Amino acid sequence: MILVPGGRGQLGHDLAALSADVRAVSSAELDVTAVTAADLAGASAVINCAAYTAVDAAETDEERAFAVNAVGPGLLAQACASLGIPMIQVSTDYVFSGDGVRPYETTDPVGPKSAYGRTKLEGEHRVLDAGGYVVRTSWLYGVHGSNFVKTMAALESSRPTLSVVDDQAGAPTWSHDLAAGLLELVSVLPATRLLHATGGGQTTWFRFARAIFEELGADPARVQPCTTADFPRPAPRPAYSVLSGAAWAAAGLRPLPHWRSALSEAFRAGVVAPRTGAAPLE
Ligand SMILES: NC(=O)c1ccc[n+]([C@@H]2O[C@H](COP(=O)([O-])OP(=O)(O)OC[C@H]3O[C@@H](n4cnc5c(N)ncnc54)[C@H](OP(=O)(O)O)[C@@H]3O)[C@@H](O)[C@H]2O)c1
Repeated sequence: MILVPGGRGQLGHDLAALSADVRAVSSAELDVTAVTAADLAGASAVINCAAYTAVDAAETDEERAFAVNAVGPGLLAQACASLGIPMIQVSTDYVFSGDGVRPYETTDPVGPKSAYGRTKLEGEHRVLDAGGYVVRTSWLYGVHGSNFVKTMAALESSRPTLSVVDDQAGAPTWSHDLAAGLLELVSVLPATRLLHATGGGQTTWFRFARAIFEELGADPARVQPCTTADFPRPAPRPAYSVLSGAAWAAAGLRPLPHWRSALSEAFRAGVVAPRTGAAPLE
């Protein structure tokens, strides 16, 4: 049985949907900040999807973010090591500064600019030190939970036009594809323990939003480009956070599908509920 703490989030849901061997548990069933080896009874592996993912809130709540994103994964990794079972920690592109100009390799220096990124990075250190795996991903969206795709779909039906930042580049990742990749990782258990797994290719939030409008059957020209400076947020976002999948491929793992084809697949899978009535604003 593969135990999945944080199993009610978007990635946890997709892991559970993909394999009957997955036991996805909520934070009420298993709080990672106080986990012990006894909580992992019967598990043959752990994929940790528990995280404090509110990036802006983490700026003023770093203590809580640290408990969930650093202390919890560390405790989980130690418990897994004591039981001799593998642990996979899911991490983020936000561990990088975002000042890069080519896809980040796993060997590139880190430099988080946000509280969320700092706490996730400390989680990485603790998991790797205890012998676990770390898989960084980016721009995650899925059928369950809130995400950019759902936000764009909601705005499409309520606003004639909208502005989306065009100066942040990254790779959207469908949580279903990442879940499949993580299950493959558990079956292969390669020697390399720090990996990147994202949708293939790269884009900007603006171009991603236009692709979402295309999938919705709406006019993509209703989405206009703007800059990060136009929409200041509490937590700084990396300007460039494309992650190279070279280490993933070298470990013998299948690259995740390209972000654009994955988006079409996600729509076919119902990432956005079909419209039931009112015509969109034009
Ligand atoms: N979303 C993104 O764009 C993105 C990008 C890069 C990396 N990631 C990483 O990918 C992973 C999965 O993200 P996601 O989007 O699936 O997250 P999510 O939907 O926000 O789910 C996170 C889950 O963690 C649980 N959780 C919070 N505190 C916990 C605790 N103390 N003990 C146990 N569970 C706890 C939450 O459960 P409750 O709500 O019940 O507390 C929630 O179900 C995370 O590691 C995240 O950092 C996400």
